Amino acid sequence: MQTVQDAPALRAAIRGWRSKGQTVGFVPTMGNLHAGHQSLIKLARARTDRVVASVFVNPTQFGPNEDFERYPRTLLQDQTALTEEDCDLLFAPDVATIYPFGAEHSVNLRVPQITETLEGAHRPGHFDGVATVVCKLFNLVQPDLAVFGQKDFQQLKVIERMVRDLSLPVMVMAAPTLRADDGLALSSRNQYLSVAERARAPLIHDTLLKMRELLGKGHPWRALEQTASARLIRAGFVPDYAVIRRAEDLAEPAEDQRDGLIALIAARLGQTRLIDNLLFD
Ligand code: PAJ
Repeated sequence: MQTVQDAPALRAAIRGWRSKGQTVGFVPTMGNLHAGHQSLIKLARARTDRVVASVFVNPTQFGPNEDFERYPRTLLQDQTALTEEDCDLLFAPDVATIYPFGAEHSVNLRVPQITETLEGAHRPGHFDGVATVVCKLFNLVQPDLAVFGQKDFQQLKVIERMVRDLSLPVMVMAAPTLRADDGLALSSRNQYLSVAERARAPLIHDTLLKMRELLGKGHPWRALEQTASARLIRAGFVPDYAVIRRAEDLAEPAEDQRDGLIALIAARLGQTRLIDNLLFD
């Protein structure tokens, strides 16, 4: 696998493939790769001739009090993980390549509506940073296909909407959430958890399952949200939200809606903020 840092080297590699008529798949990441990221590479690998991954800890999607500085940077391990998946190229740019005028003076893309709730409400500006960097990465890589995890469901929706609204020539593919055996969604942030916190963390997935089960039994979704929050609080979590929404646009469902729903939870456990979701189909 080739690793490139700058845009000309990236474009040269991709031009070479394009000249042979090959298709390009792309998996953007912030590195510290785990089996969840690797599953995205596998999906791209099965669909396109060439696969590009990026590792870039994007400063513009972190709030001032978030974990940008301490976000784990493990490029050597990431290269090994990508090589295992037969990834063709790793693009690992520095901040100046992505933000030539500085991160504070960048064009800022705001995707309206879908970004105003949930993560968007709790992390102001987060999705502007995500949309901006993903658009820049799409312009650099110019992939046919890009794969995003359902683990970050709202992010996936933001990207889908940006691609459609800006007529970007990229197909967006959703990948299922990879979990540990006890149900905890794999995440680079799980390593911030203490041993005791890690043992409690699967309660988030368990609560999502419970919400789905009780909704199936006819419980009203509003009551389920309250029960879910209370359960998390009792176990020592500080939930930002534990809600049931319409999967298509994350708006509140009608009182009697039963189809096309998703449960989403964001909760802090000690210093670590965890998110997860479960589609009800
Ligand atoms: P990062 O958190 O590194 O995630 C990269 C991709 O991996 C995202 O599409 C995410 O949804 C997916 N992913 C993470 N954990 C997963 C799991 N357990 N199962 C399946 N997929 C999983 O998301 C970002 O980076 C950034 O916001 C980015 C899109 C790269 C923009 O900076």
